[in-house]
Amino acid sequence: MGLLFRSLAMLFVVIWFSRLPDLSAQSSRGQKRALDALLQDYAYRAFVHPKTGVTFKGMVPLNLTGIQIAAMRLRSGSLYRRGVAMYKEFEIPQDVSENPYVERLVLVYQNLGNWSMVYYPLPGYSYLAPVLGLLAYNASNLSATNLPELDIRASGDPIKIKFQDVKPTPAGTVAKCVSFDLDGSVNFSNVASGNICSTIQQGHFSIAVESIAPSPAPFSPSPTPAGAGKKNNNSKVWIIVGSVLGGLALLALLFFLVLWAYKYREKKSLQQMEKAADVGEALHMTSVGDTKAPAATFTRTQPTIESEYVP
Ligand SMILES: *[C@@H]1O[C@H](CO)[C@@H](O)[C@H](O)[C@H]1NC(C)=O
Ligand SMILES: *[C@@H]1O[C@H](CO)[C@@H](O)[C@H](O)[C@H]1NC(C)=O
Ligand SMILES: *[C@@H]1O[C@H](CO)[C@@H](O)[C@H](O)[C@H]1NC(C)=O
Ligand SMILES: *[C@@H]1O[C@H](CO)[C@@H](O)[C@H](O)[C@H]1NC(C)=O
Ligand SMILES: *[C@@H]1O[C@H](CO)[C@@H](O)[C@H](O)[C@H]1NC(C)=O
Repeated sequence: MGLLFRSLAMLFVVIWFSRLPDLSAQSSRGQKRALDALLQDYAYRAFVHPKTGVTFKGMVPLNLTGIQIAAMRLRSGSLYRRGVAMYKEFEIPQDVSENPYVERLVLVYQNLGNWSMVYYPLPGYSYLAPVLGLLAYNASNLSATNLPELDIRASGDPIKIKFQDVKPTPAGTVAKCVSFDLDGSVNFSNVASGNICSTIQQGHFSIAVESIAPSPAPFSPSPTPAGAGKKNNNSKVWIIVGSVLGGLALLALLFFLVLWAYKYREKKSLQQMEKAADVGEALHMTSVGDTKAPAATFTRTQPTIESEYVP
């Protein structure tokens, strides 16, 4: 019983540790969403004399130096009928619509630069281009903050992203388009013409390769991405610690299970041996007054009376 309990406790430990990377993914999703909200706020501040269909360059707070943002306000009908020929790296075709419907919308552009690895770490991969974001918001109130994103979808041709200054693909690796949707899911697809990715929805996009070296070099247009590596290493350390502890716990659990099974078999065979013995020599219970007591039906060694001894 005690062993079974201990095994169950071990199982709990295993489940807990296998959940750890998941938990850290959850919190980093929160970080991403908080960044999107902050950048929406700062991008909207770029609209001093808002004209439709014009790219406005935004300013980021000092603590996010290295990130570039822009904002463009559009009539929903114009976006659907004409698209946007070129909005930074994004080429938006016609037949892109938003849900829920708004009369005017703002497309916020993000270039995360040397912060790409900080906010969008991709274990086992390294970026050949910065992570770019394209997100759509209601344009009715240009001083609104914490706006929810509108869901934009391309129902005809996909939206194209033409990355600039893509780092050369290391020999023996294949570059992949990476897309992150707002729920935190990641998809990989093929790169077209060396630098073009496509999507039918908003989100964050980049080009990455599987890293050959054990530690991927973070993308950095500036020479010192100090915080970038640290944060990524931190989550990596967590994953490693989690896996090791999880593995150890699993081993312990297996050990206890084997031990328990062994004990169980031993107990069972002992019981069987007892049973077999019982069959061979059944102890019949006889009542002695109120209590029952085992009584032998016969005695194995017949008592011999000395006097009967006949030589
Ligand atoms: C950066 O600064 C802004 C404004 O001062 C603040 O709201 C935000 O929380 C800070 N973000 C980070 C990631 O430090
Ligand atoms: C867009 O914002 C305006 C003004 O804040 C609001 O009245 C309208 O309901 C919003 N539209 C959607 C779809 O959220
Ligand atoms: C726009 O948003 C700001 C900030 O949330 C709010 O104070 C203001 O009342 C809103 N204006 C309209 C017209 O909804
Ligand atoms: C990834 O692909 C799935 C299935 O095709 C799709 O439902 C999801 O929206 C895609 N996510 C991204 C980030 O493109
Ligand atoms: C990115 O580069 C800027 C300088 O261009 C620097 O101030 C900032 O700290 C860097 N960000 C990271 C995450 O290293």
